[in-house]
Amino acid sequence: MMQLSLIPLIEQSDQKPVDLVYTSLSHDNVCPQTERLTLEKRYAVLLEESEEFNRKLVSYQANKGALVHGWIRYREGFSAQLVETLINKFNLTGTLLEPFAGSTTTLLVAKMLGINAVGIELLPPCHLAWEAKSKIWDYDVEQLKQIYAQLLETQPAESADKFPHITITESAFSRQNENDVMFYTDWFKQLNLREPEKTLCQLVLTSILEDVSYTRKDGQYLRWDYRALKVQNRNTLRQALGKKQTKKIDFGAIPTVKETLQRAFSTVIADITYLQTRSLPQSRQTLLKGNTLLILPTLEANQFAGVITSPPYCNRYDYTRTYALEIAYLQPKQALRDLRQSLLSCTVENRPKLNLLKKHYQSVGQATRYQDILSVVQNNSVLKEINQALQTRWQRGDMNNKGVLTMVEQYFTELTFVFAEIFRTCQQGAIVAFVNDNVRYGGEIIPVDLLSTQLAETVGFEPIAVYVLPQRKGNSSQQMGKFGREALRKSITIWKKRAHSRFHG
Ligand SMILES: C[S@@+](CC[C@H](N)C(=O)[O-])C[C@H]1O[C@@H](n2cnc3c(N)ncnc32)[C@H](O)[C@@H]1O
Repeated sequence: MMQLSLIPLIEQSDQKPVDLVYTSLSHDNVCPQTERLTLEKRYAVLLEESEEFNRKLVSYQANKGALVHGWIRYREGFSAQLVETLINKFNLTGTLLEPFAGSTTTLLVAKMLGINAVGIELLPPCHLAWEAKSKIWDYDVEQLKQIYAQLLETQPAESADKFPHITITESAFSRQNENDVMFYTDWFKQLNLREPEKTLCQLVLTSILEDVSYTRKDGQYLRWDYRALKVQNRNTLRQALGKKQTKKIDFGAIPTVKETLQRAFSTVIADITYLQTRSLPQSRQTLLKGNTLLILPTLEANQFAGVITSPPYCNRYDYTRTYALEIAYLQPKQALRDLRQSLLSCTVENRPKLNLLKKHYQSVGQATRYQDILSVVQNNSVLKEINQALQTRWQRGDMNNKGVLTMVEQYFTELTFVFAEIFRTCQQGAIVAFVNDNVRYGGEIIPVDLLSTQLAETVGFEPIAVYVLPQRKGNSSQQMGKFGREALRKSITIWKKRAHSRFHG
C-alpha cells in the first residue's frame, strides 16, 4: 500500500489568503457565474498556497544549470526539482505516467531515481531530447572529447545543403549562420559515428538553432529580430503603403554557429563525464511517440502508480509555431500542420477532434466508453456556464477571436478523455499531479484547476489537494487593458484513484 504524506488541508481552510478563492469570475458581473462560484466554494477546502511549490520550481527556470535537463531549452517544461518533490512527497515508487512528456523531465528524473516510467509526446524535438538524454551511460566519452577537439579545428566552409525551411521559418538565420548550421550538420554526418554519439550531435545542433537565429521563443509566438529578411521585406512593403514600421526588435550580437556549438558540446560532455562516475539504479523508461488522446486508450489498465504532468495550458500557445525551427530541421515539411491538429486543443486553429476520437474508440472496441466519457463533459454545468459566458462576451465584442470559444470547449472535452484514460490505466490509490494555469478571456475567469478537478472527480478520482503557487499569474495585456488586473491561480492539482468507478474499464 502506498504511503502518502498528504498535508492536512481541512484545518487550514480558515487561514486562506484572500485572493485564493475567486469571489467574482465575470468582470462587471456581465455573465452568470453561479456555477463557477459554487465550484470555488465546493473545492475551497482543497486550495492551499504552498511555498513548497513556487513559480520558479514549477517553471523551466529551475532547470537552468541542472545536469542534462538543460541540454535543450524547453520553456514549457517544469523543473526536475518539482518532479522530485512530488515523487518524495507522495512516495511514488511504482511506474509513473507522463502523458504530455515535453522535454521528458519526469522520465529523466524517474531514470535517475530508478523508477519505471512511460511518457507520451508528439513533437520531434522532444523525441530527440529523450533519445539523447536517456543514453547518458552509453556514450563513449573519449570519442566525444575527440569530436570536440576536432570541432575546435574546423573552419566552416560553403555548404551545398540548404536548411529545410517552411514558410514560417524563412530567413530565420543570417546567410552565414544558415550556411554553418548545414555545414556542421554534414560535418557530423561524415564522422561516421555510432548511433548514440550521432544522436547526441544531432541534439546539440538542434539545441543551438534558436541562439544562432533571428528568432526567440515567446510563448504564443516567435519574436523576430529586425535584421531578418522577412522583417525587412515587411517593413519595405509597409513603407510603400504609407504604414508605420513594425517595432524594432534587436537581439544584439548573434553568436556564430561554431562558438555556440562548442559551448553546448562542452556542457554536454561535462554532464556525461560526471554522471558516468555515478551508478545508475536499474529501471525502464519508454517514450511513446504520438498523440496521447489516441495512445492512452490502447494502454493496459491498472498499471501506473502515479502521474506527474502538465498539459498544454488553455492559453493559445502553439508549440508547432514556437518550435517550428527545430521541427523543420528534424522533420519534412508535411508534418507541421498534422502535428498542430494533433495537439490537445490549445490554439484557436485547432479543429475539433471528436470525430477522430469516436472512430478511434470504435476501432478499439470502446464505442460505449467514448459515449460515457463524452457525457461527463456534456453534462458539466460549469463548462456549460463558461461556454455560454464566452458566447455572450463574443456577441458583446469583448473578445477578438471567436476561435477561443471552440478552443475552450474542446480543451476540456479532450482533457476529460485524458482523465478517464489515466483513471483506467492507474492502479487503485495512484496519485495524479497536474500542473496548470487558470486563464481569462473576455473578462471571464476560467478556473482550469477546479474545473479539471471536478471533471476528474466525475470520472472517479478523489480530489486530494490544489496547491496554489504563492505568486499569482498576471493577465495578457489585452485582458488587463480592457478588464483590469485579476490575479489568476497557477496550481498543482492532486487526485487519487478511488476503488470504483464506471470508468475503470
Ligand atoms: C506543458 S508541456 C509539458 C512539459 C513537460 N512536463 C516538461 O517538463 O518538459 C505540454 C506538452 O504536451 C505536448 N502535447 C500536446 N498535445 C499533445 C498530444 N495530443 N499528444 C501528445 N503530446 C501532446 C506538447 O507537445 C508539449 O510538449
